[in-house]
Amino acid sequence: MSPLLAVLDGESLASPPIWLMRQAGRYLPEYRELRAKAGSFLDLCFSPDLATEVTLQPIRRFGFDAAILFSDILVIPKALGRDVRFVEGEGPRLDPIDAAGIVEVLARSRETGAVVNDLGVVIETVRRVRAALAPETALIGFCGAPWTVATYMIAGRGTSDQAPSRRFGLADPDSFARLIEALVIASTDYLVAQLEAGADAVQIFDSWAGVLSPSSFANWSLGPAARIAAGVRARVPGARIIGFPKGADRALSAYAAAMEANAIGLDWTVDLETIRRETQNRVALQGNLDPMALVTGGAALDAGIDSILAAMEGARHIFNLGHGIVPETPIAHVEQLVRRIRG
Ligand code: CP3
Repeated sequence: MSPLLAVLDGESLASPPIWLMRQAGRYLPEYRELRAKAGSFLDLCFSPDLATEVTLQPIRRFGFDAAILFSDILVIPKALGRDVRFVEGEGPRLDPIDAAGIVEVLARSRETGAVVNDLGVVIETVRRVRAALAPETALIGFCGAPWTVATYMIAGRGTSDQAPSRRFGLADPDSFARLIEALVIASTDYLVAQLEAGADAVQIFDSWAGVLSPSSFANWSLGPAARIAAGVRARVPGARIIGFPKGADRALSAYAAAMEANAIGLDWTVDLETIRRETQNRVALQGNLDPMALVTGGAALDAGIDSILAAMEGARHIFNLGHGIVPETPIAHVEQLVRRIRG
């Protein structure tokens, strides 16, 4: 069985399985080359040929234990009828949504099959990647968490603290709840389709969970994740689900319990001893290496890796970063990481 799936299912391995968030991306010359040919970033996400190739690039180069589907969390707003663009060197741009737009999006999410049909090319990529991978390499599908996707839909772009969405949630909680509901429905359908097409596990990225107050976290992050997980497992019994509520810190173990996560992602601010004590091997622990350690390399990288390995000895552990690889990461440092962990 694949080492990653063994750990998700309850085992701890002497040498942890490895994959890295954003492992396919701009730090790889072969990605940059293919990206230049594809035209826009969304053209790349929506071409099964090219997206399959990009998903496989880091597996070929580094032999990671898991591939992650190449796509983006913002394909869901697009499938819900919103305009989504990626501006070169700047990032995503959407038309900021209002209460009337939210009513339309909720109706769209309730049209049976609509979102998944719209994302049929992404589901086809899942099928092709699974067919191309060796059996011991796991395939991870994903979606953005409703709160994180909502922040881009409301602000129309990335912001540093998600003030526009925090404010919207407080000023018009009914509309905000409808938006979250639409995203719960669409994400559940989308993850089920990925699992049925061959994904071995799925990860829910809540990159902006850390900016919420405790009550907003319960309403907009933990609650929706638990609803998605329950909805997915009602249709795909035993589905393996990884939660990544970045910045959730002291709420991490409650979050993992609420969604019955097989694993939770840990950003680099999380204290490993504390989270191990709190979760007692009920859930696998994934991540925690500061992406800047991977940029730095050398002794700092070795020390960062060694301290995680020491803290995780005997635990259900998946080696990963605390957030995505950044484009300036040297490939030699990724090679150093794989060598150090596998010995
Ligand atoms: O991890 C992987 O290798 C799989 C592919 C993947 C991408 N985005 C590809 C991508 C995944 C899992 C994501 C998730 C994603 N997308 C998140 C959640 C995780 C996180 O990083 O916090 C978020 C918030 C987004 C939204 C998004 N997409 C932003 C803000 C940006 C611009 C920032 C940037 O790095 O350029 C993107 C673009 C994006 N998504 C790129 C890639 C490889 C770069 C686009 C390019 O190649 O031009």
